[in-house]
Amino acid sequence: MEIRVAQGNIAQFESDCIVVNLFEGVSAPGGATGAVDQALGGAISRLIASGDFTGKAESTALLYSDGKTAAPRVLVVGLGKAEKFDLHAVRRASAVAAKVLAKTGGVKNYATIVHGAGIAGLDVSQSSQALAEGTRMALYQATQYKREQQPVGLDSCTVVEFSQEKLADVTSGVKRGEVIAQAVCTARDLVSEPPNVLFPVELATRARQMAEEVGLKSTVLGEAAMRELGMNILLAVSKGSANEAQFLILEHAPAGHEEEQPLVLAGKGITFDTGGISLKAGAEMWRMKNDMGGAGAVIGAMEAIGRLNLPRRVIGVAACVENMPDGLAFRPADIVTGMTGKTAEIISTDAEGRLVLADALAYVARFKPSAVVDLATLTGAVGVALGKIRGGLFANDENLQAALMAAGERSGDKLWPFPMDEEYVDSIKSDMAEVKNSGGRGGGVSSSAKFLEHFTEGYPWAHLDIAAMVWSDAEKGAENPKGATGYGVRLLVELAGAI
Ligand code: BES
Ligand code: MN
Ligand code: ZN
Repeated sequence: MEIRVAQGNIAQFESDCIVVNLFEGVSAPGGATGAVDQALGGAISRLIASGDFTGKAESTALLYSDGKTAAPRVLVVGLGKAEKFDLHAVRRASAVAAKVLAKTGGVKNYATIVHGAGIAGLDVSQSSQALAEGTRMALYQATQYKREQQPVGLDSCTVVEFSQEKLADVTSGVKRGEVIAQAVCTARDLVSEPPNVLFPVELATRARQMAEEVGLKSTVLGEAAMRELGMNILLAVSKGSANEAQFLILEHAPAGHEEEQPLVLAGKGITFDTGGISLKAGAEMWRMKNDMGGAGAVIGAMEAIGRLNLPRRVIGVAACVENMPDGLAFRPADIVTGMTGKTAEIISTDAEGRLVLADALAYVARFKPSAVVDLATLTGAVGVALGKIRGGLFANDENLQAALMAAGERSGDKLWPFPMDEEYVDSIKSDMAEVKNSGGRGGGVSSSAKFLEHFTEGYPWAHLDIAAMVWSDAEKGAENPKGATGYGVRLLVELAGAI
C-alpha cells in the first residue's frame, strides 16, 4: 500500500472512504470533522447524539454519505480524551483506521486528515510522522511461510491537508514516518524468521544487503577474525554450534561527520538460545528465536538512520551467535578470557547474552564513542518486573539516561530505569575468576547489567533489557499485530536525532 499526500478539502476528495476524527465527549465536531458533518447534513452530530459513538480511543463508526461527500463512506475514528491526546494517540488512531478499512471489502483507496495537526495543536510534522508509522505498522503481516497469502486489501492512503502552508511539513513528516515504520518492519521480519533460516551468517548477510541498499558501510568479522582480536568470551558461547558466529559492524558517517565521535548501538544477536549445557525447559524454548531482537532493533534503526541521512555519525554492531549444547560446547565452571583481558567464570551457559555483549562492548571502545547503548533480550526477570509495557533501562550516565527516557516517551518505545548500585556487583564476584556470569535470582536484572558494566571502558553507556518487548502473543494496540514488535527501532532513531 502506498501513502500519498495531497492538498485539498477532504469532503471533496475522491476515494472509497474518508477518515475524520472525534475527541471523546465532543457533541458538536469542529475542524475538518465539522466540515464533513456539515456536508453530511449533521449525520456525525446525530451519530454522537444517538449515544452509539462517543469518540473513545480506538473506537470507529462507518457512515455512508449518499453522495454528500465525494467519497461514498466516512470513517469516524475516536481520539479519546483531549487532555490525554499525544503523538501516541495519533499513531494508535491511524492504526485503528487502517485496520478497520483493510477489512472493509469495498475500500481499496482511502483518504485521511492528519489527526492532531488541527484543533489539537500538535506539531504538524510529528503528527504526520506518527500517522504514517501507525498506518504502516498496523498493516504488517508475517506471511513468508504461508503459501496462501491474505493480501492487505488496500492500495493507497492519501493524507489530505487543507492548509497550503502545512503541506511541506505533512509531506516531510509522512516520509520520515514511512522510513521509520519500514525499519520497524525490517526488525519484525528478522525476529519472525525461524532459527533454521536465520542463523548468524544469514543474519549478517541480510544486514549487509540492507547496508548496501541504504549506503551504510558494513564489515562482518568471522570466528577467525574474532579469535585474532581475543574475543574469547563471545566465542565460548558459539562453541557448541555448527553455525559460525559473526560480528556485524554497520556505519553511518554522513559527509562532514566522518571523524566525529559516534553514537554506538550494540545488539545481542543470539539467533537461537537453547540455554546450551544449562539447557532450557522444552515447552517455551521456541520463543528463543527472538533472542536476536536486540540485533534486529539495531539493524532496523541503522536502516532508518541511513535512509533519513541523520546528520550524525552512528555505528551499529551486533554479536550474532547461536547457543547450542554439544560435545564441544562451553560448560558451567569454564573460565574464559575476553578482549579486555578480564577473566569470567561461567556459572550458567544460559546467561550467554551478557557474554557475547562483553566482547562487543570491549570491541566498540576503539571507536571512541560519545555514547554506547546496548539492546538485549537479557533476562526473563525484566518482564516479570515491567511486563510488556516498558523496556528496562540501566545507565552509568545521567544525561544518556535522560535522553533515552525522553526518546522512549516520544517514540512510543517506552523505558523505565533500574538501579545500578555498586553493591549489585557483590553477587557476581567469583571465587575463581574476576567476575562470574550469574549472581542468582535476587537482583538478577541489575547484576546482569553490572556484569556488562565490567566491560565498558571509557564511554557513557546504557543497557536496555528488552527481553519482554520484542515479541507479543496478542495484538498490543492496533499498531502492534501479534508476533514480532520491532521494539527499539523507533527509540533508537529518535535518540540518534536527539543526542
Ligand atoms: N534469552 C534469555 C532471556 C529471555 C528469557 C528472553 C525469556 C526472553 C524471554 C537469556 O539468555 C537467559 O536465558 N537469561 C537467564 C539468565 C539466568 C541464567 C541468569 C534468565 O533470565 O533466566
Ligand atoms: Mn540464555
Ligand atoms: Zn539469551
